[in-house]
Amino acid sequence: MNQDQFDLVVIGSGPGGYVAAIRAAQLGLKVACVERRETFGGTCLNIGCIPSKALLHSSALYAKARDGMGAHGIKVGMVDLDLPGMQDHKTKVVKELTQGIEFLFRKNKVTAIRGTARLNGPGRIEVSLNSGGMRSLQARDIILATGSDSAGIPGITVDEERVVSSTGALELDSVPGHLVVVGAGYIGLELGTVWRRLGAKVTVVEYLDRITPTMDLEVARQFQRLLSRQGLGFLLGTKVTKVDSSGDRLVVATEPAEGGDTETMKADVVLVAIGRRPYTEGLGLETVGLKPDNHGRIEVDAHLATKAAGVHAIGDVIKGPMLAHKAEDEGVFLAERLAGQRPHINYDAIPAVIYTAPEVASVGKTEEELKEAGIAYNTGKFPFSANSRARSTGKTDGFVKILADAKTDRLLGVHIIGEDAGSLIAEAALAMEFGASSEDLARTCHAHPTLAEAVKEAALAAHGQPIHI
Ligand code: FAD
Ligand code: NAI
Repeated sequence: MNQDQFDLVVIGSGPGGYVAAIRAAQLGLKVACVERRETFGGTCLNIGCIPSKALLHSSALYAKARDGMGAHGIKVGMVDLDLPGMQDHKTKVVKELTQGIEFLFRKNKVTAIRGTARLNGPGRIEVSLNSGGMRSLQARDIILATGSDSAGIPGITVDEERVVSSTGALELDSVPGHLVVVGAGYIGLELGTVWRRLGAKVTVVEYLDRITPTMDLEVARQFQRLLSRQGLGFLLGTKVTKVDSSGDRLVVATEPAEGGDTETMKADVVLVAIGRRPYTEGLGLETVGLKPDNHGRIEVDAHLATKAAGVHAIGDVIKGPMLAHKAEDEGVFLAERLAGQRPHINYDAIPAVIYTAPEVASVGKTEEELKEAGIAYNTGKFPFSANSRARSTGKTDGFVKILADAKTDRLLGVHIIGEDAGSLIAEAALAMEFGASSEDLARTCHAHPTLAEAVKEAALAAHGQPIHI
């Protein structure tokens, strides 16, 4: 093979693309990964999961130092916010992790190419190099892992300074007086939480009559109550129709979702967080006979193959939840398949976590989905207020909810709202992966005193026999 000929070329170095490239190289394929950003790691490492979690953690520390120590008998003096310092910490974390991908590429002998890739007929890719000039690659297989981009609202221009997407909301250099968030989903609630903790007034405008539409409704209602207690304001069943940025302050016009009278409010920053769209711009799909579906996604079969021979796709650019670990698992699946193995992905056991306080985490079906599918189920619930560890740390908000098949007791869904829910859900995902019943979970010995005992108790409650309530 010459230096431009590969077994596999991966377009995009997000968690889907970089993981696919590394796994394929580990399995002996000659692999290149093309990325148009200067740094690797995609949305997740550069402008998504990692910077948002850095700011969530730093802002939580600030809020704790300011308001959360008194109850533990600790007196704290003046607590001051050093926003540039907080942003520097975030930038440092992003830099270290994106450089880490470069290191992993070198270690695994993945050829990393910085440039914008375009398909140019079967097995051919043209790369417009960031350093100037073009490079033509040939590949037996191609993985499209080009990810997604923020969705916009027609007529509302995102300038990333005052009207921002998540990218601008991660970069604000001062705390806005009033932040209006459009969309009560993952991004709106995580970044709304960051700026609320740092002192902003935050109003979340949501089109539907509930927050986080994919979440179990009972959990979502509790979540909204807890966020409201932290000072986030909610306007549900409302749409933003216009943002006037001609004056010193923004004027945000809203209307009831069903139509009706317009109201206005003043804001300093508006965050548009109404979802993300698959990104396929300029990718040359037509040169291999492909076109995106009505949602802009690339269609794939159960093996993540498109209709074009040798072209596959993973991550945010295809159907399914737009989550980094889903993209990673698809990357591994495809790399192993292309190397001749027979891997498997269990789409019923992909956890989802919102990293607010408390965290909200789930895996499997919601109660609403089970009702709609006509599946009979038992419910087991256990509140953290009855968990001894939660009581000792003072983090008693929330509960664990387990949904198990009424006939077989197999776990169908686990939903947790509470401290460290994002870590607690791993046990439930593992149990579901192994096809466990709620009795299996209940009979597993859990260390005391831990928050995980609430999971065990919820499993006991699914049989009506919790010990501690
Ligand atoms: P991406 O990460 O989007 O990567 C695609 C890459 O392809 C990009 O780097 C892009 O530059 C590159 N590219 C596109 N076109 C070309 C081309 N033609 N040539 C070369 N390169 C190209 N998910 C979680 O699971 N947990 C979280 O906590 C979380 N937090 C998030 C917070 C925010 C603010 C956002 C925006 C997202 C968050 N997500 C989170 C979602 C997560 O970032 C995505 O699901 C994940 O990054 C998708 O991975 P991917 O590999 O499919 O695509
Ligand atoms: P989202 O899909 O989570 O939420 C969008 C919200 O906006 C929904 O509640 C929707 O009903 C509402 N909406 C849509 N149009 C609207 C309109 N015109 N006016 C008012 N509300 C409107 O999308 P979000 O928050 O932008 O995040 C995109 C994706 O990124 C998430 O779905 C998730 O996959 C991923 N993500 C994951 C995170 C995590 O895993 N912790 C964190 C951040 C993002």
